[in-house]
Amino acid sequence: MIKPDAVEGNHTGAIIRMIEEAGFRVVAIKKTQLTPERAGQFYAVHRERPFYNDLRTYMSSGAIVPMILEKENAVADFRKLIGATNPAQAEEGTIRKLYAKSLEANAIHGSDSDENAEIEGNFFFAATEQY
Ligand code: GTP
Ligand code: MG
Repeated sequence: MIKPDAVEGNHTGAIIRMIEEAGFRVVAIKKTQLTPERAGQFYAVHRERPFYNDLRTYMSSGAIVPMILEKENAVADFRKLIGATNPAQAEEGTIRKLYAKSLEANAIHGSDSDENAEIEGNFFFAATEQY
């Protein structure tokens, strides 16, 4: 998911290009906006964290671009492509190093397991849709 700061900064195209050049196939894509409630649902694993409320506000502050991506070893390879959560610690050439503004406004989200990729894909794209 391309996050509000990167969509607002007009980096959507550049980020998708990096994703494709890294060998991922875009299977489903759209532009949409989360309500604070839905943003909280998406990041429900973090509900006990001190930054949860700020994260809900930020994630619902503007448009986002969720995608379903396909590749061998997709989860691990995508986390490598996006870089560390904190852009100050992200490797050169990663999406977060290039486009993230801060630890919170860090340009992009990647699923952390195949299981969560399926749950998150269904969160944005109806499970019955064909892609
Ligand atoms: P995602 O791919 O978005 O899930 O990021 P991640 O897996 O690299 O990090 P994590 O799941 O731990 O945190 C989710 C998101 O919460 C991060 O991407 C940040 O946007 C935000 N976040 C994480 N830690 C902090 C923090 O300490 N302060 C603030 N304000 N936001 C944070
Ligand atoms: Mg995470």
